[in-house]
Amino acid sequence: MEITTSAFNGDFTAITTEALVVFVFESKDSEANEGNVLSPHGFPGENISDSNFGPIDIAMEGAITKLVNAKEITGKRGEVTIIHTLGTMSSDRIIVVGLGKEDHVSSEVLRRVMASVCRRLRSINVASISVYPGAINSHKLAFGHEADMDNFLQDIAEGAILGLYKFTKYFSKEDKDAEKNTIEVVCDESYFLDDAQSQIDTGIIIANSTMLARDMVNEPSNYMTPDHMAGVARRIALENGLDIQVFDLTQIQDMGMGGLLGVAKGSVEPPRFIVLSYNGDSASPENNLALVGKGITFDTGGISLKNPGGMMAMKGDMAGAASVISAIEAIAKLRLKINVTALVAATENMPSGSAQKPGDVLRTFGGKTVEVENTDAEGRLVLADAIGYARHIGLTRIIDVATLTGAIVSALGDVCTGAFTNDQELLSEVLGAGESTGEKIWQMPMFSEYKEQNKSQVADVKNTGGSKAGSITAAQFLSEFSEDTPWVHLDIAGTSTSDNISGYHTKGATGTPTRTLIQLASNLSRVHGD
Ligand code: BES
Ligand code: ZN
Ligand code: ZN
Repeated sequence: MEITTSAFNGDFTAITTEALVVFVFESKDSEANEGNVLSPHGFPGENISDSNFGPIDIAMEGAITKLVNAKEITGKRGEVTIIHTLGTMSSDRIIVVGLGKEDHVSSEVLRRVMASVCRRLRSINVASISVYPGAINSHKLAFGHEADMDNFLQDIAEGAILGLYKFTKYFSKEDKDAEKNTIEVVCDESYFLDDAQSQIDTGIIIANSTMLARDMVNEPSNYMTPDHMAGVARRIALENGLDIQVFDLTQIQDMGMGGLLGVAKGSVEPPRFIVLSYNGDSASPENNLALVGKGITFDTGGISLKNPGGMMAMKGDMAGAASVISAIEAIAKLRLKINVTALVAATENMPSGSAQKPGDVLRTFGGKTVEVENTDAEGRLVLADAIGYARHIGLTRIIDVATLTGAIVSALGDVCTGAFTNDQELLSEVLGAGESTGEKIWQMPMFSEYKEQNKSQVADVKNTGGSKAGSITAAQFLSEFSEDTPWVHLDIAGTSTSDNISGYHTKGATGTPTRTLIQLASNLSRVHGD
């Protein structure tokens, strides 16, 4: 999608477009009426004609006033009113979009509303639109930092792009929705001067990387093999000047990554261990961040085979890997002042004559031994090696991202990601980043009592902790490998995919938590940079 900016020349009637999108807020007192139903920054004062876009109403002989008085336009969040201008203006249509009550509006509201407006317009074959965000800017000016609207042009770009996302590559007939969409943001001088296009470009970079994560997760496992994933990482490295190492089976054996090898044993697809590094602050090597991703390209459960129902979703068991590879792409494109390394342990988890079996004991990268009680708890086995390797190469802050447990889905559903940590400070950075991006994250407890459940009779630890508190015992298992390095584990089993279209999420992969990882790197670079 192309998103451009232009400076508003003061004349709404001269904007030539298929659809001109303007925003309104709902009045605080929704009982009020007669030209005063909407909040000041949508329609100030007594009369719509005095509002941010009053001249549109005048050009259309009071059509908007009439719709407001008839309560067809209320400003409710997500309300979309399409009005044909019938030649009264250069724009074919005016789209009045409700943002809800002004004191509840946020970046997230804007992203979500923008996504649904764009989908609605696509459904009536409108491909090229102009957006006039004057009401949002007035709101920002009136409420200052409290408004959470500093980056509203970035929000508009992210919402529009992510809302229109579709995974169509395997349809043999060309998808008519694939037609190129364009958005022109018509900017008032007050923020146009403030480098509007660069804010939009940031939104485009972040949305494009999020779509890469979605594409990787939606990709069927017969294409998205461990080697194919390494190929995606190689392409990103080449395009963005990153360092990359892809370790093959022999090298993984030489390094002693017993966890990854144990899981990979059952598959004819060879495993890959991928290390992708962006050095944005080479003068300060301590300013680093490890992003570790679970890269199970298909999880059958192995010998502890899963039930067939829902197994298809297990092509997405590499969503953690997809998010860390995609995030580093955006981090590099945004030239953030921080050193970030993405580490991915990629393999299938298959049952076969060569597969590992319950009761097997593995020796992981750092030397700790693990009894495999259940071969379906494979994510923690490959992460044990990847986290150990991150520490081995001197990385001092680790975030791992994994579709790790069904238990987190039981606990939190698909609404929020579960977070676990051994370092509250690092977790607050992650939670803060999640608040900015709208990707909800909820901290789960790490009381040491839970560690008891992972005790093994034959090895240092076992890979399952029984039926109680499954997401927590999984996290406690990982904490054996992060040891004293500040570490946050994000269990995205519930949030990496969506069952329905809602806001900027479409059915299938969500790209979560790519945007939060980018935001985190950006926040950390601001703190530790300069
Ligand atoms: N990949 C699954 C977890 C999962 C479940 C992801 C649902 C996405 C949606 C993981 O490897 C797994 O199978 N975990 C087991 C662990 C158990 C055997 C201790 C689980 O959660 O049932
Ligand atoms: Zn599994
Ligand atoms: Zn899995």
